[in-house]
Amino acid sequence: MTDVIPAPRAVEGPLRRGVSLDADTTLWAAPGTGTVERWLRSTLGAALGLSLPPGPQEGANSVRLRLDDSLEREAYRLDVVTGGGIEITGGSAAGVFWGAQTLRQLLGPDAFRRAPLRPGSTYGIAQQTIEDAPRFPWRGLMLDVSRHFMPKDGVLRYLDLLAAHKLNVFHFHLTDDQGWRVEIERYPKLTEAGSWRARTKSGHRASPLWEEKPHGGFYTQDDIREIVAYAAERHISVVPEIDIPGHSQAAIAAYPELGNTDVIDTTSLSVWDNWGVSKNVLAPTDNTLRFYEGVFEELLGLFPADAAPFSEFFHIGGDECAKDQWRQSPTAQARIKELGLADEDELQSWFIRHFDNWLSARGRRLIGWDEILEGGLAEGAAVSSWRGYQGGITAARAGHDVVMCPEQQVYLDHRQDGGADEPVPIGYVRTLEDVYRFEPVPPELSPEEARHVLGTQANVWTEVMEDHARVDYQTFPRLAAFAEVAWSALPAPAERDFADFERRMTAHYRRLDALGVAYRPPTGPHPWQRRPGVLGRPIEGAPPNV
Ligand code: ACM
Repeated sequence: MTDVIPAPRAVEGPLRRGVSLDADTTLWAAPGTGTVERWLRSTLGAALGLSLPPGPQEGANSVRLRLDDSLEREAYRLDVVTGGGIEITGGSAAGVFWGAQTLRQLLGPDAFRRAPLRPGSTYGIAQQTIEDAPRFPWRGLMLDVSRHFMPKDGVLRYLDLLAAHKLNVFHFHLTDDQGWRVEIERYPKLTEAGSWRARTKSGHRASPLWEEKPHGGFYTQDDIREIVAYAAERHISVVPEIDIPGHSQAAIAAYPELGNTDVIDTTSLSVWDNWGVSKNVLAPTDNTLRFYEGVFEELLGLFPADAAPFSEFFHIGGDECAKDQWRQSPTAQARIKELGLADEDELQSWFIRHFDNWLSARGRRLIGWDEILEGGLAEGAAVSSWRGYQGGITAARAGHDVVMCPEQQVYLDHRQDGGADEPVPIGYVRTLEDVYRFEPVPPELSPEEARHVLGTQANVWTEVMEDHARVDYQTFPRLAAFAEVAWSALPAPAERDFADFERRMTAHYRRLDALGVAYRPPTGPHPWQRRPGVLGRPIEGAPPNV
């Protein structure tokens, strides 16, 4: 029985005999499969000492990579043939790459290490044929690097973890009230002042504790280029998010004129050190529009539209914009009057539509949180449905593409067990099994409407995750269950074979161990993974970030 995760569509075998890989095993790569050739040599060379020198197109001790355009773009077929070697055939280099990820799993957990434990070993794989293809084209993870910064190496590591789970979209939440994380050359104060805070609330808002030290960091433009290229080598699209017009206090702290200066003294603001939804939002002025056009101009160059299949998307946030200051601001009220708008909600829609048009005129597609639906969107704009399924249903019915990421199901910051040992518990209890039974396509949608569901993503908000070990703990093992939901052709939630998934997880935990992932053990947190006495926000039924 296979123990591959996510589960492949069809497996024939495994049979007793098969193929052994050793120092003499060769690699032949068809033109167009260079990403996979490089990845196999560097990964299996490091982990197992298999240097995979170039070799012939046939042979018992060889691996061959082929393309077959009769297959779907991301589909692959993996043949392990006794006496005939190993062949991976994909509908594109992406398909071959996902096949190579399956091959790595078949080689055993040591294939996930960075140096060989027993140099000179041979590695056997039983004879079998695997035919596989993803259910959804968009299989994503959103990582919030604003609330807690993840240094570049950690981001590259997460891209490898996504690839190992056949996930292909990295939604990069780069800005928020608590930190601006990307260098913008024409506005240096965004990172000089906006990328760090003097102290940080430890725990969620009700906690009386503070971490009394500066926290921060940012990616230089070269770091971003490296991240985008590293992702593209792994057939992953990076979708950057610059959150506007709310969640913008860090930007206002750097450039006070971006805020509602007729309501508060914005020069007194600093990068926020607490959690929740800040009332300090962008002023709806021409100056703000021009400023962000300047930001986006630089970012469009750093995130080229042709880097990977979803790279045309640019996420502008649009969630949780507090309207208090706009209600009090004579400037905002004058703008509402001048534009003939009904209220502050329409003012937010005007703001989003401005950038929708601006991005469309540059060949890009806007994507935003489901609040952006409220004012009508340009054709081509897409929605991340987070407040549940409803935003996604409304968007799909209006002809917009949708990424399903309802907080009730796939917010991995939410606690994964109801027990008292869960570190800094947040939100709903969502276990590994709950995530395994998540269904991205709501039954209300007709087949035609359901075609607008591009796919799904899990979201990781990092208010209470101070380092990568805490991110690992919240994200794993649930991301493995999520990957199977996004990739595999699973039956309806109630009929899913969670016992079989758990059986395969036994092998997968060994892979995660080899990768050094600090996942939550099935029996509960290790002592060092607990945070006794640090208050979270474990309120059943409440929305997050409040
Ligand atoms: C969100 O969780 N505010 C998108």
